[in-house]
Amino acid sequence: MVDRGEGAIVIDVDGNRFLDCNAGIAVVATGHCHPRVVRAIQEQAARLIHMSGTDFYYEGMVALAEKLAALAPGGGPRRVYFGNSGTEAIECALKLARYHTGRDKFIGFLNSFHGRTLGSLALTSSKYVQRARMGPFMPGVTHIPYANCLRCDYGQRVETCHVECVKVLENRIFKTIVPANEVAAIVVEPVQGEGGYVVPPRKFFDELAAVARRHGILLVADEVQSGMGRTGRMFASEHFEFAPDILATAKGIASGMPLSATIARAEVMNWKPGAHASTFGGNPVSIAASLATVELLEEELIAHATNIGARMQARMHSWPARFSQVVQVRGLGLMIGVEVSSTALRNRLVLESFERGLLILGCGDTTIRLSPPLVITETQSDFCLDTLEALLGDA
Ligand SMILES: Cc1ncc(COP(=O)(O)O)c(C=O)c1O
Repeated sequence: MVDRGEGAIVIDVDGNRFLDCNAGIAVVATGHCHPRVVRAIQEQAARLIHMSGTDFYYEGMVALAEKLAALAPGGGPRRVYFGNSGTEAIECALKLARYHTGRDKFIGFLNSFHGRTLGSLALTSSKYVQRARMGPFMPGVTHIPYANCLRCDYGQRVETCHVECVKVLENRIFKTIVPANEVAAIVVEPVQGEGGYVVPPRKFFDELAAVARRHGILLVADEVQSGMGRTGRMFASEHFEFAPDILATAKGIASGMPLSATIARAEVMNWKPGAHASTFGGNPVSIAASLATVELLEEELIAHATNIGARMQARMHSWPARFSQVVQVRGLGLMIGVEVSSTALRNRLVLESFERGLLILGCGDTTIRLSPPLVITETQSDFCLDTLEALLGDA
């Protein structure tokens, strides 16, 4: 039962202190209650809380849209839609892709998570409990295996593979299930989040871009979890020089205030006023929190995520050799996954960490995820790794 938080520490109602390596599911990018974010929220709340950005403009909304447009990977003019949650950002991307292309089908990846409303849920495929008894879903979605090179569905090794996981589209899917000219978009997480913090090789993105270009298919990057500095770049796509037509982001964007953004190439977001909207989307208080967040990310926290993430991963590098239960350590910046040998062990490690004052989460079947606030200090990250090493040693 959480009472309050400060930086990377949360304190429960009994006064127990925990190191938060979960950040409210990768949300509080600038830490809990960063003074500059709190001040921005307080000042904005005292001025204006809501007027609906559908009908009136706010200066902050324009400033944030311009900022995100400039930051979006790929360059060129962008247009931005504001919603309140990750799933809304994806709904916007799906509707826009249909509107712009006049096509209605989508390609998604197995083990992906894109949200829980009925459009995004049609793409989500990480756990059946999220889908059971909720169908039928939006029709026209075909899932293919993701580029999980540790467990390649095509029996390949990353050094020698020919990106079979993308080639399958032209070799089989477009010939057997869905014609390419009916596909509006391919929706992909640049780093698979809920599916296990899986980092694909660069050639996966190059191949996706080539297939999309050949068939006039749009690329949608779901950066709801991987965006906003977490991987040591503003957007994870940058690591792969991946330039999506539409990018959806949320979670870390406003340090905990509800906000999401769908950023699209200007010529793609060509729908008419009123075609898509949200009463609350981009409310002034969330926007103010986001402007303060983006400033902090650019000033210092993205660089900090790179440095401290590298420091943590350097130490964790030896884990598969030292601990027989560790299968792989992987990640970018402060989006780090530790795959262990079984789900039972993973779940036990999450619970025992909690009992020792460390908050972590699971993802995928057998992976621990570390997604701390980007303000985590060296000492705090040492505590996190000391705790996990002790637990792995015991196990
Ligand atoms: C990659 C990704 N997309 C979409 C979502 C949905 O976001 P929300 O829960 O804010 O709707 C999530 C949430 O975990 C996510 O990780």
